[in-house]
Amino acid sequence: MVQTHELSRLAVYAPAGTLQAQAVQLALRLGLPMITKPAENTFLLRMTPQRLELVQTGPGAPGPVYVDFVAGAMGHRRRFGGGRGQLVAKAVGIKKGFIPSVIDATAGLGRDAFVLAQLGCRVHMLERSPVVAELLRDGMQRAARDVEVAETVARLSLAVGEAGDYLRNLDVSQVPDVVYVDPMHPARGKAAAVKKEMRLFRQLVGADEDAAELLQAALAVAGKRVVVKRPRKAQAIAGPAPNLVFEGKSTRFDVYLKH
Ligand SMILES: C[S@@+](CC[C@H](N)C(=O)[O-])C[C@H]1O[C@@H](n2cnc3c(N)ncnc32)[C@H](O)[C@@H]1O
Repeated sequence: MVQTHELSRLAVYAPAGTLQAQAVQLALRLGLPMITKPAENTFLLRMTPQRLELVQTGPGAPGPVYVDFVAGAMGHRRRFGGGRGQLVAKAVGIKKGFIPSVIDATAGLGRDAFVLAQLGCRVHMLERSPVVAELLRDGMQRAARDVEVAETVARLSLAVGEAGDYLRNLDVSQVPDVVYVDPMHPARGKAAAVKKEMRLFRQLVGADEDAAELLQAALAVAGKRVVVKRPRKAQAIAGPAPNLVFEGKSTRFDVYLKH
C-alpha cells in the first residue's frame, strides 16, 4: 500500500485565544506538534475563527488550502454550474427517475462529491490523508450551518482510510451504484498553469501511483459503473478499456460499465 506523503514539517497552529484547546485536540488526533510561533517556510495546519487551512509560511508561498462549499468557486458553480447538463452528471448516469448512490473513493477537497450531492446523489467519501480529511470535515461542518447548502451537505458522509481496503470489505447492503475515482494526476510540464495552492495540496498527498489497484477494487464492487476522472489528454488508468468516454475542455470521464 502506498503511504500518503503528508508534509514532513507540518505543525498545528492557532493564534492565542479561544481556539487553543481545539487546536490541541487536533494536534493529538493527527499526532502532529503544536506550535505557537510559526517560523518561515514551514507548513501549518492553521486554525482560525473562520476555518481550518493548510498554509505554507514565508514570502512567495501559495495561498491557503481549505474546503469551502459555500462561497468561492463552489458557490459560483452552484449558481451557474449547469445542473444535470454537466458532464459529471452524465458520467455517473443520472437520468430522469434515477439518481445513483456514490462512493467517492478519492474525496480530496470534496468538490466533485459536493457537485454530485447537489445533483441529488448520496455520496460516501473516502480519504486516506488524515490531514485532508480534517480539512474536509471542517468544510462540511461550516457548510452544514449555511441555509443554502445544509441540505446538500446532509447527503455527504466521510470515512478516513484506504479506499481499496474499504471497498474490499464492503458489506453487500452497502454496495453503491457508482464508485467515483479521481486520483491525483501525474505532475505535468511547467507550462501547465497548476495553481500554486494545488501544488501545495500535491505536496501533501503525493501522486496516487496505486490508482490501477484502486480501479480494480472499484470494478469488483460497483453496482452499475465506475467513473474515473482524468486530465483530458492523459492515458486511461491501466486495466480494462473504458466503455464510455465523456470529454470536456480539460477533463475527461472514463466510464466502466458493470453490465
Ligand atoms: C485529485 S484528489 C481528489 C480531488 C477531488 N475529486 C475533489 O473534487 O476535490 C485525490 C485525493 O484522493 C486521495 N486518495 C487517492 N487514492 C486514495 C485511496 N486509495 N484511498 C483513499 N484516498 C485516496 C488523495 O489523498 C487525495 O486527497
